[in-house]
Amino acid sequence: MSSYWIDSVKFDSYDSLKNDISTDVCIIGGGITGIVTAYLLSKSGYKVCILEKDKIAHQTTGNTTAKITSQHGLFYHYLTNNFSKEFAKSYLEANEQALHQIKQIIEEENINCDFEVQDNYVYTTLEDEVSKIKHEVQDVQNLGFPAEYVTDIQLPFDILAAIKFPNQAQFHPLKYVNALCKLIIKNGGSIYENSKVYDVKKNDKLYNVKTENNTVTAKYVVLACHYPIINAPGFYFLKMYQETSYLIGFTTNAPLFDGMYINTKTPIASFRTVPYNNTRMVILGGSEHKTGADMDLSDCYLNLENYAKSLFPDANILYRWNTEDCISLDKVPYIGKFSTIMPNMYVATGFKKWGMTTSHVAANIISDFIQDKENPYAETFISTRFKPIENGTEFVNMLKQTTDSLILDKFKIPKETLSEVGKDEGKIIEINGTKIGIYCDTNGKYYALKPVCTHLGCELSWNNLDKTWDCPCHGSRFSYTGKSLYAPSIKDIDLISLDITE
Ligand code: FES
Repeated sequence: MSSYWIDSVKFDSYDSLKNDISTDVCIIGGGITGIVTAYLLSKSGYKVCILEKDKIAHQTTGNTTAKITSQHGLFYHYLTNNFSKEFAKSYLEANEQALHQIKQIIEEENINCDFEVQDNYVYTTLEDEVSKIKHEVQDVQNLGFPAEYVTDIQLPFDILAAIKFPNQAQFHPLKYVNALCKLIIKNGGSIYENSKVYDVKKNDKLYNVKTENNTVTAKYVVLACHYPIINAPGFYFLKMYQETSYLIGFTTNAPLFDGMYINTKTPIASFRTVPYNNTRMVILGGSEHKTGADMDLSDCYLNLENYAKSLFPDANILYRWNTEDCISLDKVPYIGKFSTIMPNMYVATGFKKWGMTTSHVAANIISDFIQDKENPYAETFISTRFKPIENGTEFVNMLKQTTDSLILDKFKIPKETLSEVGKDEGKIIEINGTKIGIYCDTNGKYYALKPVCTHLGCELSWNNLDKTWDCPCHGSRFSYTGKSLYAPSIKDIDLISLDITE
């Protein structure tokens, strides 16, 4: 099912790339990061081109909660303790600047995108989390930001404590980026949809960016494609993982709340409202899990719906959607140079679910690099850092997951047989000694493939909610027909024809 954002806006469409072209800057990925970067650079006179593998802004950007805030959970106590007070201050300022920049762009360009100033809260209902809120308030105030400790919020249940960030914002992300796309075209830029990039090759001082049939030659390349599609150099797959989160949209006759909210601890509950048909709709998010986790996902929406109905008994569920986010091992996004040995190639990834402000932080840093301007926040987000030991637990988990999937799982013999794959079910079974991933649709038609990720070869897990094959290693996802949906994989998986005998 489409997100509310995708469903509620008529988005412009763009042709696919049909010729070889030259440009100053080739941006791979047509989400909010790529679009804002293209907007800033085209405004400064650069010739820019965006290559989007599917439809502009229909992946992470089109499936977000669209909260515009510098409050990224309880993050500043973590940054102060694990980095430094100066580091935390720089992170805060970069995101606050992004918030103001969004407001400024909307005003200057006269963009109608339901922008609303709202306070943002991180709250807890748990006694043992209260001290964390207190520490966060203290640390944020020490950075010079007017955060407040509160014990009363407008959500329909009692809390024990919350930290309030005043004057944050929310908007309709697709109305915003649709308007920016028009401005990119007006500024002489070009946008191509259904133009998947398969390779980027250095050619003297230029890059050749290759789609299936054509090449874009550019001096600068920006990887704004959610997860970098180039493995080496860079090796981002060794320092990042992905999580999937779920959202529902519902209306109710009960009184609603101002503000945007998220709790401190799993199970996460994230709230905001949005204008909807002369009333307002609540967007509730949560049920997150590591992408590709081998688990039953059928209750991910149901749990959210039950929670919504426990708070708003007349909740009328109108939308369900999910999204995927990249998280770096030290929890700080990677923004800047892709690698020290690939000049003029830039990357933005690992936004940790806070993509509305972070996309603008990234667009500012990368466009400043390209224009040879100093950026005061570039060092904070430096993308070539590699300090996995700072999040040793997650690093070990990632390596174990990759090793298990690459080596151990290949020798396990699945118990299921073809006859055990029911309608609308997917399973890994063994046929003639080979592991095969099978999905049986509601009409009884089988779709078979080798359940091996085209990124680095990990074994895929069946996602029984979205009917996709998901990779537990770095979060690639494939449709049951084998189409690559989420990076870092680029290549599709071929379907296998089955000769089924009784
Ligand atoms: Fe890396 Fe699958 S995403 S092996």
